[in-house]
Amino acid sequence: MNQAVTLSVDQGVALIRIDNPPVNALSPEVIGGLDAAIDRASGDDSVLAIVIIGAGRTFIAGADIKGLEQLAWGSDSGAPEMHELLQKLEDTRKPVVMAMHGTALGGGLEVAMAGHYRVAVPDALMGQPEVNLGIIPGAEGTQRLPRLVGLEKAIEMCVSGKPIKAADALSAGLIDRVIDGELAAGASAFAREMASRTGALPKTRERQDKLPPASALPGMLTAGRDLARKTRRNLEAPVAVVDALEAAATLPFAEGCARERDIFFRLAKSEQAKALIHAFFAERGVSKVPGVSKDTVAAPVHRVGIIGAGTMGGGIAMACANAGINVHLTDASQEALDRGIATIRKNYDVSVKRGRFTPAQVDERMARIAPQVGYDGFSDVDLVIEAVFENMALKKQIAGSVASQGKADQVFATNTSTLDIDEIAAATGRAAKVIGLHFFSPANVMRLVEIVRGNATSPETLATAMAVAKKLGKVGVVVGNGPGFVGNRLMFPYMYETQFLVEEGATPAQVDRALTDFGMAMGMFAVDDMAGLDVGARVRTALGHFSDPRERRPLVHERLVAAGRLGQKRGAGWYRYDEPRTPTPDPEVETLIRSLAADAGIEPRAITDDEILDRAILALVNEGAKALEAGVAARASDIDVIYVNGYGFPGWRGGPMFYADRRGLGEVLERIRAFHRQHGERWRPAALLVDLVSRGATFRDADRARRT
Ligand code: 3HC
Repeated sequence: MNQAVTLSVDQGVALIRIDNPPVNALSPEVIGGLDAAIDRASGDDSVLAIVIIGAGRTFIAGADIKGLEQLAWGSDSGAPEMHELLQKLEDTRKPVVMAMHGTALGGGLEVAMAGHYRVAVPDALMGQPEVNLGIIPGAEGTQRLPRLVGLEKAIEMCVSGKPIKAADALSAGLIDRVIDGELAAGASAFAREMASRTGALPKTRERQDKLPPASALPGMLTAGRDLARKTRRNLEAPVAVVDALEAAATLPFAEGCARERDIFFRLAKSEQAKALIHAFFAERGVSKVPGVSKDTVAAPVHRVGIIGAGTMGGGIAMACANAGINVHLTDASQEALDRGIATIRKNYDVSVKRGRFTPAQVDERMARIAPQVGYDGFSDVDLVIEAVFENMALKKQIAGSVASQGKADQVFATNTSTLDIDEIAAATGRAAKVIGLHFFSPANVMRLVEIVRGNATSPETLATAMAVAKKLGKVGVVVGNGPGFVGNRLMFPYMYETQFLVEEGATPAQVDRALTDFGMAMGMFAVDDMAGLDVGARVRTALGHFSDPRERRPLVHERLVAAGRLGQKRGAGWYRYDEPRTPTPDPEVETLIRSLAADAGIEPRAITDDEILDRAILALVNEGAKALEAGVAARASDIDVIYVNGYGFPGWRGGPMFYADRRGLGEVLERIRAFHRQHGERWRPAALLVDLVSRGATFRDADRARRT
C-alpha cells in the first residue's frame, strides 16, 4: 500500500480507503495501492469482509484524465492498467463491498462493478461519462454494466454519459443497497451481513441473466445506435460504445473485453478525444485567474437584488432561485414587474410540462423571488445585479444610487453586453466592488457567463463573482473590459462575414447549412433571427462599428430591420417562420439580397462550402488572436470555453482556437493572408498569429508558456 490507499481493520471488516485528492482519480499509485491492500486483507485471517471507500468528497471519479491526455497526444502510456486488479477484486474469496458517495464515474464505476456488492449514499451519482471525453469505458465497463443493469439501460447510460442517482441505480440492479447515515459504518454492517451468508460470491463477469436473448438484440442495438446519432450529433464515441456493448451480449467476457480495449485505444488517439479532453481542462482552467489565489476570500452570497425584470433580469432571477438563492426583483413600475413575474411563471410552467421540475419545486423557486417596486432591502443584499436596458446614463444613475448605499462587502454587478464597466464603476465611489456579469439569453439555461474585470475590480470581488457563477451551475470566464468583451467581440466579424457571403452569391440557408454541417449548433442567420435583428443592430451601433466610411458595411441587415423583419418574434427575419422557431428560406429576402448587391456592383458568384467555413470560422480565429493580444482574453482556451458554452461551437472540435491549432496555424495564416489581399483591412492577420507561425508554435503552446 501507499499514501493513496490505506487499510484498517475493525470487527472483522477491512476498510480500504482511497485518498488521492481532489477526486480520487485512478493514478498508478491508487491502482497499486488497491492491489496491495486486497492482498493484505485476503491474507489476514481476522478479516471476514472488505469495504472499499473513498476519502474526502467522493468515491473514485474516474481514470486520471491527465494520463488520458498524454495517451491522446501520442504517449503509449496513460491508460490505466486495470485488468489484473479487477480480476483480483472479483476473485477475492471474501466479500468485497464497494461503498460509494459523491461521484463514481468512469473507471471508478468500473472498479465498483468488479466488487461482489455495491452500496451507496442517497445522493451518490454513478455513471460512465467517457463519451464526453471522446472515448469509451476502457476498464471492462462495457462488459460488466449490461450484465448488471441489462443492455438497454447500459446503452442509455453509456451513450448519454449522464450519471444516475442511487435510487435509480438500486432499481436497475447496479447497487444492492442505499445506505442512509454514515457510509463506512453502514457499508461495514452490510459487509458483515454478506460474510455471514453461505454460497458463492456473485461475480459480475459470470452473470448472464440480464443479457438479452438473441432475438431481442438487433432491435436494441439499432435503437441504441439511432439514439447515439440523434442525441450526440457528430460524436464518434457514443456510436462506438454501442459496438462494445454489443460484444458483451455476443462474445465471451474475455473476448468482449478485448473488443472494448481495441475501440478504447482507437478512440483515445482520435481528434475528437484530443478536442474533448482539451475542452475538459479548458473549462477547469477558467477558475485559475491571475491575481486571484486560493486564499482570496469570496464573500458568501445568500441574497441577491436584481434590477430589471425584463428578459435578462427574469432569467437571472430564475437562475438564482434554481440555485437556492433568495432574490429581490425590482423594476420601475408595478406593471413591468407583473409582466416579468408572469414570464417567469410561464417559463417554469414549460419546465413542469417537460418534466424538468415538479409543481412543488416550482412553487419553492417562485417563493424565493420577491417582486418589489423600489430598492427596499437592497442595501443589505450580498450582490446586486443590474439588468436594465443598455443605456449608459441610466446604468450610471442606478449604480450611483444603489451601489453607493450597499453594505461594505456588497458586490455590484452590471449585466451590460456593450458598455464600459469602468465608467459605470466610477459612478459608485466604490469601484473595487463593481464587476460585469454578462449573462447569455436565456440566462436560466445558457451555461456561459462572462465575468468582466474592470480596472479597479478587487480580487475579492472577482472571487465572489466566480463563486456565484459556480453556484449557479454556470461556467464563468473572466474577461477584460474591452468593446464586446470576448464573445461578442469575436462574433461580429464572424457575423459580418456571413452577411458578405450572401451578398457575394451564397444564400442564408447555404451558409447556415455549411455551419451546422461543420458542427455549429445553429447557423448565424438562424441565430440572428432568434436573438432579434433589432438587438444585433443596437449592439453593433453601441460598439461603434462602421464608423469608418471606408469599411465594407453589410447591406441587407438594416433593410430587414427597417422592414420590420426582426426575426422569430415577428415571424420573419432572414427566414420566414410559418411555424414558431422553424426557419424556411424566403425568396423575398433572397431577391432583396440580390438587388442590394447588384446596386452595390457586386457580381454574384458560386461560393463553396469551404469558402463559407473559412471566411466564417477564420474570422473568429483571427479576432480571437487579436483579443489575446489586447489582453481581454487571458488564454486561448478561455476563448474556446466561451465559444463552446455560449455560441454553440462544437465541443468535439475543442473551440475555435483549438480548431485552428489542429488545422495548422501555418495554413490558417495563409488563408487569412489571402483574404487580406482580397478583402482588405478587416482581414489583417493578428500579430500574435504571425508570431506563433514564425516560431512554429500553437495557441496551446502559448497558453502553456503563460502558465509556467
Ligand atoms: N482525472 C484527473 N483530474 C480530475 C478528474 C479526473 N478524472 N476529475 C476531476 N479532476 C480534477 C479537475 O481537473 C479539477 O482540478 P483542478 O482543481 O486542478 O482544476 C479538480 O479535479 C476538481 O474538479 P472540478 O472542478 O470539475 O470539481 P467538481 O466538484 O465541479 O466536479 C467531478 C467533480 C464531477 C468529478 C468532475 O470533475 C468530473 O466530471 N470529472 C470527470 C469525470 C470523468 O469524466 N471520469 C471518467 C474519466 S475517463 C475514465 O475513467 C476512463 C476509464 O474508462 C478507463
